[in-house]
Amino acid sequence: MAHNILITGGSGYLGGTLLARWKEANLPPHGKVFALVRSQHQEEAVKQYNAEPISINFDDAGALETAIIDNDISIVFHLFNPTDTEYSVAFIKALSEVKKRTGKEVHFVFTTGAKIFSNHVAAPTDKPLLDTDPALFEIQKNMENKGPHPRFNQAVKANNIVIETAEQYGVRSYIFAPCIVYGKGEGFGNPISIQTVAIVQAAKALRQVYKVDAGRPTWPVCHVLDNTGLYLQILRKILSGEEIGHGRSGYYLASPGSIAWDDLYLAIAKAMKQRNAVDDISVKEADDDILGKMGDALKCPKDFVAVQVGGLCTFTAENGKRIGWKPRYEPQHILETADEEVELILKHLKD
Ligand SMILES: NC(=O)c1ccc[n+]([C@@H]2O[C@H](COP(=O)([O-])OP(=O)(O)OC[C@H]3O[C@@H](n4cnc5c(N)ncnc54)[C@H](OP(=O)(O)O)[C@@H]3O)[C@@H](O)[C@H]2O)c1
Repeated sequence: MAHNILITGGSGYLGGTLLARWKEANLPPHGKVFALVRSQHQEEAVKQYNAEPISINFDDAGALETAIIDNDISIVFHLFNPTDTEYSVAFIKALSEVKKRTGKEVHFVFTTGAKIFSNHVAAPTDKPLLDTDPALFEIQKNMENKGPHPRFNQAVKANNIVIETAEQYGVRSYIFAPCIVYGKGEGFGNPISIQTVAIVQAAKALRQVYKVDAGRPTWPVCHVLDNTGLYLQILRKILSGEEIGHGRSGYYLASPGSIAWDDLYLAIAKAMKQRNAVDDISVKEADDDILGKMGDALKCPKDFVAVQVGGLCTFTAENGKRIGWKPRYEPQHILETADEEVELILKHLKD
């Protein structure tokens, strides 16, 4: 029985690139691909990828379940809002209903973020934290409400709720963690990422790149096509009927490795100086006053700035390799291509 698949976030950076690379991925046979849309423009745009637009009125409690069941959707790739528990739980329950009716194995791929495995949520950072660590679920359970930022604490909870609800309803869940993703998005919507964008946005406002942490913390990075490659590899395995790590063993970090923020700041500063977007290429330390100004530029409180452009994350990708995912780009590639990244960001940055 062919799987019908739903993708949310198709107008976004990651979801758009996933849709754009679908055709050339030569996936095993499957049924229809549905893309969640919420405008007429998106409805038209997703058709170019042979995706069927689907809109769900989330205010209507039963609409999501009806959409999943009526369209016989047995795989959901959920790509917006890492704190979401409302729609995620509803998707999982609806998938379980499809399983009951059809006997098909059903799958829920939830997109979180590397931040949810970093010092920003009080994750352990004294050694590599493998995405295959058998204790990862327990580690995340113990992290609930321990971090300083309520929004991120909610995202930790969301991962746990997805896993627990999926277990309860007989759905296979996968926690997919993008990290600092870079490179041009290929979808019809947003072409730029988040963290590289935040560094540029703050530096542009202050005409100076600032570092926000002591020492030389590191963070995993990933080219957007490699990130897409891991989504597609998970899907390929699911469609082939292979059982891959799921539930408590289903954490997938998309990253070939880490770089130091300091190196990224410097590469970005050089590229911005070339375009006269900063005054010099040095990377200075942000004091309290500067953090406030960076917060204004990033439209966030100053104690949230370090969350956007810094931190320590030792989360390490192993699970993807186990299922045959081979990233094309080394971590250093982000530094080598910082010039293109800055060009792209400055072109698309909304003031
Ligand atoms: N990019 C990264 O480096 C990165 C890193 C870690 C984690 N992530 C996470 O990965 C996910 C996708 O990231 P992205 O970079 O692709 O984000 P993005 O470019 O900002 O796209 C967000 C997508 O979510 C959709 N969306 C937002 N709110 C929605 C709602 N209430 N109902 C339906 N759709 C909604 C947007 O649709 P509209 O266009 O209609 O608004 C858009 O398609 C996010 O959860 C993000 O936090 C991304």
